[in-house]
Amino acid sequence: MKPNLTVAIVCFLIGLNACQNPNTTHSETRSSSITSVVDVEQKVETLLKQMTLEEKIGQMNQYSGFWDLTGPAPSNGDAAKKYEHLRKGYVGSMLNLRGVENVRKIQKIAVEETRLGIPLIIGFDVIHGYETLSPIPLAESASWDLEAIKKSAEVAAEEAAAAGINWTFAPMVDISRDARWGRVMEGAGEDPYLGSKIAFARVQGFQGSDLSKHTTLAACAKHFAAYGFAESGREYNTADVGTSTLNNIIFPPFQATIDAGVRTFMNSFSELNGIPATGNSYLQRDILKDKWEFDGFVVSDWGSIEEMISHGYAKDNKHAAQIAANAGSDMDMESYLYVNELADLVREGKVKQAYIDDAAKRILRVKFELGLFEDPYKYCDAQREKEVIGQQAFHDACLDMAKKSIVLLKNENQLLPLKKQGQKIALIGALATDKTSPLGNWRIAAKDNTAVSVLEGMQAYTGNQLTYAKGADVSLGNTEFTVEVNINTTDKSEFPQAIAVAKTADVVVMVLGEIGYQSGEGRSRTELGLPGVQQELLEAIYKVNKNIVLVLNNGRPLVLNWHQEHLPAIVEAWQLGTQSGNAIAQVLYGDYNPSGKLPMSFPRAVGQIPIYYNYKNTGRPTLPAPGKVFWSHYQDVENSPLYPFGYGLSYTTFEYSSLQAQAVSDKEVTVSVTLKNSGKLTGKEVVQLYIRDHYASVTRPVRELKGFELVSLEPNESKEISFTLTEKELGFYNNQGDFVLEPGDFSIFVGGDSNAKLETKITL
Ligand code: BGC
Repeated sequence: MKPNLTVAIVCFLIGLNACQNPNTTHSETRSSSITSVVDVEQKVETLLKQMTLEEKIGQMNQYSGFWDLTGPAPSNGDAAKKYEHLRKGYVGSMLNLRGVENVRKIQKIAVEETRLGIPLIIGFDVIHGYETLSPIPLAESASWDLEAIKKSAEVAAEEAAAAGINWTFAPMVDISRDARWGRVMEGAGEDPYLGSKIAFARVQGFQGSDLSKHTTLAACAKHFAAYGFAESGREYNTADVGTSTLNNIIFPPFQATIDAGVRTFMNSFSELNGIPATGNSYLQRDILKDKWEFDGFVVSDWGSIEEMISHGYAKDNKHAAQIAANAGSDMDMESYLYVNELADLVREGKVKQAYIDDAAKRILRVKFELGLFEDPYKYCDAQREKEVIGQQAFHDACLDMAKKSIVLLKNENQLLPLKKQGQKIALIGALATDKTSPLGNWRIAAKDNTAVSVLEGMQAYTGNQLTYAKGADVSLGNTEFTVEVNINTTDKSEFPQAIAVAKTADVVVMVLGEIGYQSGEGRSRTELGLPGVQQELLEAIYKVNKNIVLVLNNGRPLVLNWHQEHLPAIVEAWQLGTQSGNAIAQVLYGDYNPSGKLPMSFPRAVGQIPIYYNYKNTGRPTLPAPGKVFWSHYQDVENSPLYPFGYGLSYTTFEYSSLQAQAVSDKEVTVSVTLKNSGKLTGKEVVQLYIRDHYASVTRPVRELKGFELVSLEPNESKEISFTLTEKELGFYNNQGDFVLEPGDFSIFVGGDSNAKLETKITL
């Protein structure tokens, strides 16, 4: 049969118009419709019957585009090979393609030149925006504002979809307790409850209620599983995790993405308990596909199938492909191994045909749901691309998110907010004028120099005299793909000028921290102080002016003991994206009252890591008598973190009272508490509820977050806040993997951080 005839027949059979004129723009095509599940399943089955083994395997093959690389270039592939495979229908997806023109060009090959005309799914790391950037995900998480986080994902989806993309490799839902690991910037922090709520919101934001709309993307929960538990915080390192931690800490945010209807998962570079995640059938088949009934598809991480050879788990390329396919890894990102090895493996009976059919089905299912068969160019409207990207509404949403992400760590003598006039302000630090660093890591499509700097943000407030001095660089050695940590970190030649400016100022605002590329993938650190000579600069300025407001830019918790002890005001401003400087200025001048709360504990010393609020009590939790040795502690630093999980101040103050809890059944507890704004300004508080299950068949943490609510109050206003705890909040996974609620004594704590003092008890 002639290829064109086959295409026509297949199109007829499955009702696709993939063979339509490739130049048709979105406005000329059918409007998107929600195709019913049954419909999709029938279409998938019909199409699958037309496909050869090689074409099915082709769906399981993903290549990176020809411009951006987000991992090491593979040894066994090149652009010519990619084009050849595209034309044969041996490619199901591309990543790192962007821009309508580029995507259309490649999609056209898949649709017009292959035998069956199956469209490609186009993936991209839309992590905290596309071109208009929101704060890094860790910062967004500090808002505890699920609506704002969802909105941020919606904006990211709409902008990326306008650039030809229909699948994002986000959200990263890896829980991590280790600030040395650079990728904490990409997650929601250390807590499974908060992490689950945020994971749910992000998936909803990206995917919307209708995946087939041209404004939404398929989301991807990554990295399944335990990547965030890399030993010693070293990137890509081994994870060795017990059943209880896996079930109660690591899995819940992944389960939440399933509840939100996430369509794809990504496995992980790391090994879990001796088995690389990519080749781990317990994770991908037993848990994800069987127990959780996930019917989307799993993509490998970049080259992670081939990396099973370095892990010492696969003998060679062919063996690696065999292991991954059998373990339930449906799509191969940039290893070239499925396309090269799988067909032979099936013929030799080493990989079941049924596994190939299942993987191809899962991938086709998502393509149908995206509406790609109805219109493969639906994300490729050049006019829309021009109109949508960089819209003012996106900037507004990013600014809103950025303000909400800022955490006030210290504010002595009400140094903040700054007065709007009559103050002489010195602004110091290279990061204060930086218009690229605030974009953070994962900003492949954003343009350099597009963030509003702190200097620009503060200049909008004209009532004060503002003088800027750089003082010192941060560490200019980091770029997107290289790290040269020692460049420019010892130069103190600009100290004197900064000291001179600080001497005559009423208030010194110092913007210090990490540049955007000092956290993220491949950016682990063993020291968590201020890089370069910034600490020296800070102490030199402190000698001449103690009225310092430290504004931190960073992608992870830092060790800030000196700062907490000496400085009157500290503002955690992370990397806040495109609108960074405006958000920071609005907080500094009091036009926005900070309301963020830390999603990760800030240690007193790197030696405390991993440090997290939901630790176990141990058998020797307390000091038996002054000077005694045999209890669980350090000799040199106290056990607690410097700033606990959930911590953050406001320009106003809040008081908690009247905490009451009542067991309404043996599975349900109602809790109420009164919150009062006891200060002088309107403010927002994140009311947090923690439980402690005092004894159980598997020991429970000393505290677990089980509820929170954002409450806005006028000065002197009070409000009663209620929570309902159900089996879901009161139970846990035992070591058999069963979810159980065991009767017994529980404490309930409510307050403004994980050290909440108000406590009440119930017995179930
Ligand atoms: C990262 C993934 C990412 C992929 C594609 C990998 O290096 O671990 O999170 O989605 O690259 O860019």
